[in-house]
Formats: sequence, C-alpha cells, structure tokens
Amino acid sequence: MRHLMSPLDFSVEELDRLLDLASDIEKNPDKYAHACDRKKLATAFYEPSTRTRLSFEAAMINLGGSVIGFPSDDVSSASKGESVADTIRVLSCYADICAMRHPKEGAPMVAAAKSKIPVINAGDGGHQHPTQTLTDLLTIRSLKGRLGNMTIGLCGDLKFGRTVHSLINALIRYEGVRFVMISPDELKLPDYMKEILDEKGVECRETIRMEEVLPELDILYMTRVQRERFFNEEDYVRMKDFYILDKEKMALANDNMLVMHPLPRVNEIATEVDDDPRAVYFKQAQYGVYVRMALILTLLQIEV
Ligand code: CP
Repeated sequence: MRHLMSPLDFSVEELDRLLDLASDIEKNPDKYAHACDRKKLATAFYEPSTRTRLSFEAAMINLGGSVIGFPSDDVSSASKGESVADTIRVLSCYADICAMRHPKEGAPMVAAAKSKIPVINAGDGGHQHPTQTLTDLLTIRSLKGRLGNMTIGLCGDLKFGRTVHSLINALIRYEGVRFVMISPDELKLPDYMKEILDEKGVECRETIRMEEVLPELDILYMTRVQRERFFNEEDYVRMKDFYILDKEKMALANDNMLVMHPLPRVNEIATEVDDDPRAVYFKQAQYGVYVRMALILTLLQIEV
C-alpha cells in the first residue's frame, strides 16, 4: 500500500506515468467512468478548502466511485478531542482511500502510519501540498509541452506558501529549471528551501520588484498572502497588497508567459487579467480534477 505525502514520493518516471494517465483521462473521460465503481473516497478536511476537496470529490465521482467525509474539524469528532490516528483507523473501516488536509504540519503522516488505506496529503500547514504540485506539473506540461528548460518566477508568500515549497521540490528534478523568487523580505523563501536549491546547484535569485523580472519569465506563479499563517493582523495588513498583477504589469511580460495561481486569489491578481490568454489559473483548477483521478487510480492500483 502506498500513500502520497510529498511530490518526491514519486520518482520522475512514476510522475511521468501519472501525468500521461491524467492526459489520457482528459482526452478519453468515458474510458474511466466506471474504473472506481463501488470504491469510496473519504475526505477528512480539518482546514477550509474549495478546490482540493471538491476536485477530489469530482475525481472520485468521475471514476464511478462515491465520497464520504467531513469538510471541517468542527463537524467531526475532532471537535470532541478525537486524534488523527483514531480518526484514520475508523475511516479505514468505511472507505478505500482518504484525502486529508490539516493545519498541523505532519498530521497526514501520522494518519498514514496508522492507516489501512492509502492516505493522500491534501495540504498540511505551511509544509507540503503535493496534489497541488501534481496539478501544477500537469498544467505546465500540458500548456508548455515540457517541465524543464524554463524560468519560473514565484511571487508573494514564499515563506509560508506550501504550494511553492512543494513545486520547487518537484521542479528541481528537471534539467534547465531556473527560479526567480519575488517577495518582500518578510516573506522570503525559508533557508532550508534555499539550501535544497544550493545543494542541487539550481539557478535561483531573489528580488523584491516583480516588474524588473517579468520580461524573462516563462511562468509567473502568483500566491496569496495567507492571513491564516500570520501571528498578528498588523503584519498581514502590511503585506497583503504588496503585489498586484494588473494589465500594466502584464504588458511587460512576454507573449508566451503563463500566469498560474493555486487559488484562492484575494487581490494579488486584478480581475482585469482574467481574460488575458496567458492567465491559466482557472484551467489549472480543471487540470486538478484529471490529475487527482490519475492519482486515485494509481494509489488504488486500478488499471484501465
Ligand atoms: N489550491 C488550493 O489548495 O485551494 P483550496 O484551499 O480551495 O483547496
């Protein structure tokens, strides 16, 4: 039995196979419509979510399976003090696979250690968000035709942003990937992530000004400044509108640059950018369904 805790749990070859499967699902959805007949997915979400939870649910339903679960800790027995370890033991009796989101780093790993069914980390605190990374990789590969040889600008909250940390870990395994970290000093990439980049010899530089690097980017990956990760409201208010991507800034970028965002967005991308063909964040959310379908099939070892 296999779990998914980090994007690095899959080798590059396994990842290629998973993305190939996701692309085939996109092209031939009917072929997979009964692949998970009689299977059940449990969604155990201790933290709010729209895309991750609902795309997992859509994925399982598209595969012919069904879904049980809870969308927040206050409507589960976690509110009575039940541990994650006990909860997963119980969910193992009810479902075939579980997607878990938790505000505490490492909680899905605790669950995996006690589980009788595959557990998928659907985001743990500021740590990892592997299925967002799978979504991002599928988006990049589908729209750019490759995962290497490109310059990626990561912008916004690089300190707490788990999507950014997971994506970096995944992309450094491909040749010719260069990063530009765009953030205010207070939200810079943590040292442990910089050490990983240094060790791998990946080209990476930091800047505060988005405008000066836009012309050289193949991908601009925007992130939200996350109110829920700040210890005080004053710091959040000071940081929240530090970057706003608008039409004027988009004019500085090249014609093929993709604008990605894991969503939800607050103010960091002006809605006037949504109609720009380079803005692919809603397409990205759609790719999230295909890749989660592929992941469910892979972890349940179902071949179609
Ligand atoms: N991208 C993402 O994780 O969105 P949700 O928080 O809505 O799941």
